[in-house]
Amino acid sequence: MRIVLIGSGGREHALAYKIAESKTCSKLFILPGNPGTKQVGENIPIEQNDYLGIVNFCMEQKIDLVVIGPEKPLIDGLTDKLLGKGIKVFGPSLRAARIEGEKSFAKKLMKEFNIPTAAFELFNKENYDDAIIYLHKVSYPIVIKADGIAAGKGVIIADSFEDAREALKECFINSSFGKAGDKVVIEEFMIGQEASLFAITDGSDFVLLPVAQDHKRIYDGDKGKNTGGMGAYAPTPFVTEQIIELIKQEIIIPILKAMSEKDSPYIGCLYCGLMLTNRGPKVVEFNCRFGDPETQVVLPLLDGNFVELLFSAANGKINKGAVVYNGGASVCVVVSSKGYPDNYEKGFEIRGLSQVPKQIKVFHAGTKEVNGKILTNGGRVLGITSFTEKNDLVEAKKIAYEPLAKIHFDGMYYRNDISDKAILYKN
Ligand code: AMP
Ligand code: GLY
Repeated sequence: MRIVLIGSGGREHALAYKIAESKTCSKLFILPGNPGTKQVGENIPIEQNDYLGIVNFCMEQKIDLVVIGPEKPLIDGLTDKLLGKGIKVFGPSLRAARIEGEKSFAKKLMKEFNIPTAAFELFNKENYDDAIIYLHKVSYPIVIKADGIAAGKGVIIADSFEDAREALKECFINSSFGKAGDKVVIEEFMIGQEASLFAITDGSDFVLLPVAQDHKRIYDGDKGKNTGGMGAYAPTPFVTEQIIELIKQEIIIPILKAMSEKDSPYIGCLYCGLMLTNRGPKVVEFNCRFGDPETQVVLPLLDGNFVELLFSAANGKINKGAVVYNGGASVCVVVSSKGYPDNYEKGFEIRGLSQVPKQIKVFHAGTKEVNGKILTNGGRVLGITSFTEKNDLVEAKKIAYEPLAKIHFDGMYYRNDISDKAILYKN
């Protein structure tokens, strides 16, 4: 099979490595890819927002399957454009991608179909005064979310009425999130462990991959600002078989049914961001794609034929036996640029990559190659990822951190406690 993968982050490097490993894949192109994806396929300099360029390339190259990594092309309807030309795609349609692109759509659907999630109200820019009145009535903390995608910055946890009013102003008056903030979801603050679950689905049937836990805050101990994710591990001991069964029955089966009923059948990877509350698992958010950095730790835990899983789902009849959990554990430590998630500098040389042992995966995210040197080119730069044959997170953590002594670039930063929550819980 000739396969195209869209994207250029750490998630895409992990996807590229897993796709290339499959015997079904004869050729893998990554558009545009990064210096890491180049090691497992051919990078093509077509940007992920050049939809016409992507469609033309896929037609010229007689591509059998396109896998779309990031949310933006999915929300913009790249799947529909490709399907319109008869090209098979793993990734939801424009209508289905609303599950991430419009938080209000996802929340209303969950309410209608009784899917457990935080209690909420929706407000438009025109109803600013009503929103303020509502904020006087609620208890704090409260969560305010821009309706559209806002580069991971559209969620504000407000500890007081004053903070909440400020957040509303940012959305409605200062237009800090552009159109994405013209509508907001105001929702109840939930307490519990978070978990990320990927459902690979053909629209009705599905396969659940091992459950991961992300580390969203910038500093150790979950302190500081939210980021795209500073590290992850899988599988998480917080989600037992019993909880998975609950999630299936109360969340996955009903949401797939709901999407079909709304003429938006969901084909692709449905990312369920979950909060394990003392009243059971509840949905924090749905994303229309694989998570980053969760993908980096979930994919190494799969044996079997990953391409067959994606292709069979894209084809409408998922092969549920295509992959199995191999019994291992994985830890990914994200190495970032000083200043991230705010402003940071780029262009520093990364040294020591060749000294990292082969069994550790160094997934590239924000890197670029210039004259044979690898330079930093983003906030999240690398994902150092370990894998153990047995489900031993203590060992997986140790292995993931060892190479960090060998890698260096100016302003390099990483958290020291990725997977500690699970290790403490287990012991
Ligand atoms: P989201 O972009 O929706 O994933 O939100 C980013 C992060 O904000 C989540 O990973 C949670 O840590 C936190 N968050 C979002 N919604 C809630 C909520 N209702 N209660 C508590 N924390 C939340
Ligand atoms: N790691 C969070 C996300 O991919 O949305």
